[in-house]
Amino acid sequence: MTKKIAVLPGDGIGPEIVAQAVKVLKAMPELNLEMEEAAIGGAGYDTAGDPLPEATLKLARAADAVLLGAVGGPQYDKLDRPLRPERGLLRIRKELNLFANLRPALLYPELADASSLKPEVVSGLDIMIVRELTGDVYFGQPRGIEVRNGERVGFNTMIYSESEVRRVARVAFDIAMKRGKKLCSVEKANVLECSELWKEVVLEVSKEYPEVELSHMYVDNAAMQLVKWPKQFDVIVTGNIFGDILSDQASMLSGSIGMLPSASLDENNKGMYEPIHGSAPDIAGKNIANPLATILSAAMMLRYTFGDEANAARIEAAVRQVLADGMRTADIHTAGTKKVSCSEMGDAVVAALN
Ligand code: IPM
Ligand code: MG
Repeated sequence: MTKKIAVLPGDGIGPEIVAQAVKVLKAMPELNLEMEEAAIGGAGYDTAGDPLPEATLKLARAADAVLLGAVGGPQYDKLDRPLRPERGLLRIRKELNLFANLRPALLYPELADASSLKPEVVSGLDIMIVRELTGDVYFGQPRGIEVRNGERVGFNTMIYSESEVRRVARVAFDIAMKRGKKLCSVEKANVLECSELWKEVVLEVSKEYPEVELSHMYVDNAAMQLVKWPKQFDVIVTGNIFGDILSDQASMLSGSIGMLPSASLDENNKGMYEPIHGSAPDIAGKNIANPLATILSAAMMLRYTFGDEANAARIEAAVRQVLADGMRTADIHTAGTKKVSCSEMGDAVVAALN
């Protein structure tokens, strides 16, 4: 049966990197994928006056999975807040109920030199960050900027319900069961009530998973431990804002933010797949961006939404092969390796598939 993929390139380097992932997927006709493109982010605003055009949301709902590039650009920063590209991304996550965001931080041995940390600290690194994606201060009400007592104040609401914590905790425990059976829940329970509840609910859920060794860590300490000795972590589960920050940090352990894919899943493993990096307007259109995070996101799509472990592993092996062959985009380029463009990297992955 054909599977429908909504392809949303977005802004900046989005179209370039998504084109490479699409090329890789098209090189595997046995997957039976039908891909259709639509605009999101600034591109959505430009074409339909909305960062998440109605037609795009409809296509995404009807699709089995969504492949997304990146959104945002300086030309949109002055728009009214609801019209900004980032709002389109947040809305599609919310509309599709993609509450579980999986961000694996993995070091390919060939990239040990590209990491800013010592090779012995990062070699063999394999962490899965499970970030809650549809709650927290990102969506909490009230929010706004208003005048109080003669001056402007900006405010947001950090809020989690126990059901929101429970469902993402279960996803994280399930993943831990398939990996090293270690889960670290990251919060700030020494200061925030929201985190206090988070911790309590994670503890309750842990009773369903007696085999998983659960630990708790404050987010400031977690940020420190991630660069001090990242290999102590197996699976990390955390809220939306802490996960946003820690996953960017973890990306540096793996050499470049251009290497980290992600999967955002609903209750039924329908998902949206995107690199964790942004639209990088400074290098857009130059064909120098690293497409590997997007290509690896396509691999995650095969694994999580389509249950096709073999073909997911095939794409990942091809990525490993091109790195072993010494091919590097500018962000991961080091002495003695071959600098290639975004599209050359995509071609190399296609060639390595076979
Ligand atoms: C991410 C990004 C987004 C987020 C932005 C672009 C809204 O940083 O996916 O990590 O904050 O979630
Ligand atoms: Mg982020």
